[in-house]
This record gives sequence, structure tokens and C-alpha cells, in this order.
Amino acid sequence: MSLLSYDPDLSETEILEELSLWGRSLSQAYLASARSALEKLVGRQNLLAPYQLERRKGGYARTLLFNDGGMSVYAIVWSPFCETSIHDHHCSCCFGILKGSLEEIWFRPIGESQVVVAERAIRPPEYIACMLPSNSKIHQMRNSSSEEAISIHIYGFDHNMHGSSILREYKLASGV
Ligand SMILES: [Fe+2]
Repeated sequence: MSLLSYDPDLSETEILEELSLWGRSLSQAYLASARSALEKLVGRQNLLAPYQLERRKGGYARTLLFNDGGMSVYAIVWSPFCETSIHDHHCSCCFGILKGSLEEIWFRPIGESQVVVAERAIRPPEYIACMLPSNSKIHQMRNSSSEEAISIHIYGFDHNMHGSSILREYKLASGV
């Protein structure tokens, strides 16, 4: 059950402040609240209008939208055909697709640092995912199209304490 109210008149900042009040506990209730916040945000056409978004040619770039010392919210702009490393997270990770689509690839670990592909899916506009950290949740995000994509991410970390949400990076096993 979500802990958030459903006041449709809340501003984007008020939505995130309300989510922040409930803490970043590693609980299903927090995830439900983060999902509710993202559901409210991804449909807003002008959500990112006040921001000068970072872009990186051939890669992806983050713009910090909100931070309260324990929760960091970013917009990420994905260049065509760019991708993240294969990674897991040290914190909760929730995201929603604002524009374009992203491919998400899930992996199964074999040994300490190698993985094999377990599942692939295309995440369309307004798709939302919320997950708690776990080393069994190893994934990679990729813009598989020739169009720019934009997503919004709510991470349970303070951006002053951590450079990113990534815990460990993995290599694709060859010949498996
Ligand atoms: Fe991730």
C-alpha cells in the first residue's frame, strides 16, 4: 500500500518532499510510495521544463532534480545506442520512462563477477520499475533506438556520499 496522498494538485517538488518524509527504508511500503510518486510524475508534460538537462554525446548523463540527504532524484538523458555497465545497486532504485523507450537486460550471476543474460524487455513511455538492492538483481539499461530517451530515477542514496547507485559491475561471460 502506498503511503502517499493522492492530491493531484501537488507540485513535482511537493510530491518528492512527501515521498522523502516516509524515509528510504528498504520496505515494500517505500517502494509502493516511490511507484506512486513516479506515476504522478511521468505523465506530466512539463516536468523537466525548468531544468537545463545534461547530455553526453554517445552516452548518458544525469541531472540532479532533488536531494534531501538520503534520496537522490535524477533525470537521465540517453543518447541513441548508449548503455550502462552491467551492475547491481547498493540502494533502492526506482525509475520511470518519460520519453522514448529503454531496453532492460537482466542477468544471472555465475561465479563472482561474471553473468549470463536471463531476460530482456523493452520499457516503453510511462513504464515504472521499483526495486530494493540485492546482488541477485543485476541489470543493464540500454537505449536500443536511434532516438534520444529520457527517464527519471529515484535512488535511496545521498549524492554527496556516493558517486552513483552502482554497487558492483559485472562482465558478460563468454562462451556460455
Ligand atoms: Fe541500475
